[in-house]
Amino acid sequence: MDLNILTVCYLLASVTFIIGLKMLSNPASARKGNLIAASGMSAAIIGTIFLYQNVETGAHLHNLGWIFGALLIGGVVGMFAAKKVMMTAMPEMVSLFNGMGGACAALISIIEFNHLSKELQAHSIELSSVQPTLVIIAVGLMIGSVSFAGSMIAWGKLNGRVKDFSFPGQNILNLVFLATALLAAAWLVLNPENSFLLYIILILSLLYGVLFVMPIGGADMPVVISLLNSFTGVAAAFGGFLYDNKVMLTGGILVGAAGTLLTILMCKAMNRSLVNVLIGSFGGSKSTELDNTKVQGNYKEINLSDAAMVMSYANKVMIVPGYGLAVAQAQHICHELEKILEEKGVEVKYAIHPVAGRMPGHMNVLLAEADVNYDKLMEMEAANDEFKTTDVVLILGANDVVNPAAKNDPASPIFGMPILEVEKAKTVIVNKRSMKPGYAGIENDLFFQPKTSMLFGDAKKVLQNLCAEIKLV
Ligand code: TAP
Repeated sequence: MDLNILTVCYLLASVTFIIGLKMLSNPASARKGNLIAASGMSAAIIGTIFLYQNVETGAHLHNLGWIFGALLIGGVVGMFAAKKVMMTAMPEMVSLFNGMGGACAALISIIEFNHLSKELQAHSIELSSVQPTLVIIAVGLMIGSVSFAGSMIAWGKLNGRVKDFSFPGQNILNLVFLATALLAAAWLVLNPENSFLLYIILILSLLYGVLFVMPIGGADMPVVISLLNSFTGVAAAFGGFLYDNKVMLTGGILVGAAGTLLTILMCKAMNRSLVNVLIGSFGGSKSTELDNTKVQGNYKEINLSDAAMVMSYANKVMIVPGYGLAVAQAQHICHELEKILEEKGVEVKYAIHPVAGRMPGHMNVLLAEADVNYDKLMEMEAANDEFKTTDVVLILGANDVVNPAAKNDPASPIFGMPILEVEKAKTVIVNKRSMKPGYAGIENDLFFQPKTSMLFGDAKKVLQNLCAEIKLV
């Protein structure tokens, strides 16, 4: 009876994961989707704790003190960390949590291997009957360990504690580690009495995870995090096979598939192949550093009252939000500017680049938080068509995503990345604090073009002053 109720709990949880994932694809329903999936997960956890019964012995779970202790510590730490985290530090947090998932999958493999080898020693079990389980254990251990080590390095790189690091022949050494770990795994499956092989696989996989992420440049980290996320999903799905647990299997497969799709979509948005991301070191320190000795040319500045005038008398204004808008937390005042301009009869829209900011969908989430109407958000292709009929483009803390070098300069590290073609508009106003480069560390020719004017200052302050000026026009 208990087992049946538990199966229903798992089924419900699996359905909520699918519904939640679907709802996460739209900012309007994302919050609800997250809650629905989380409630399904809670039902699966509570069901497992109280209803799980060993099929052979009929025993329920024991060690409830340990289980609830861990749940309490993990829950409290997770809740405070999630409440405190800044939107711009979200990729770091995703990476840290993803690493925990990978570690969990690796630990499951170690524990289950120990159970299995005890059983093999105590009873005369046919080796061939446990070999499929051994394969699952070995592969789960490898993927989980790579995901854990890689995610920890990614977390350190994103918060600046770990620097990019590579050496000649690193890719070959990585392949040697991977091949040796695979050989050790195959040997373990054939000879499980050599339990030391499990720890060899663990160490080699951890080393592989570290060296695999170490050389990857900053701008590519979200792609790597998404890839590692899919690894963790696959490792969790292996855990599902191991325990014959349907909800773990569904959850793992969903995370694995979603992570893989996201990785592909992000690579597409930057017009790069995954192989190029993994071994190309885009955004790495050497290739993209700004050459400060280079003469940057002349740029034109605009003051607040002139900017207010130009925008008030425009028919159409397109706002291009970027990372700087998120840093300044200027989304609410940006929405205010939109309303003030609309009261003056100006049509206002937002042009959203898929990798603007520091994580996929960053700008959509940011603007949704400020109650900007979704209908006003234009995706890159549509926005690029709209620029030619736009009077003023107001760029707020965006840089790489409007850099024409992506189209014109084959030597640029962002060459080939689709960009917002803002120069098609009549006038371009760029708000940032200085002439410093953006994330890719490269100069932006747009700032020196005749139709571009720079409006320097922190995005929030500038927008507050701009709103006040426009009200006076
Ligand atoms: P960036 O190219 O990083 O440019 C942001 C600009 O904002 C900087 O040039 C900075 O100039 C300015 N800024 C910073 N603080 C500001 C403030 N308080 N007020 C006003 N301006 C401020 O951003 P982007 O155009 O959004 O491009 C995103 C970049 O990040 C791309 O290279 C992308 O590949 C990469 N990336 C994207 C993702 C995803 S998936 N979205 C994840 C990681 C990395 P000043 O210092 O002069 O103010």
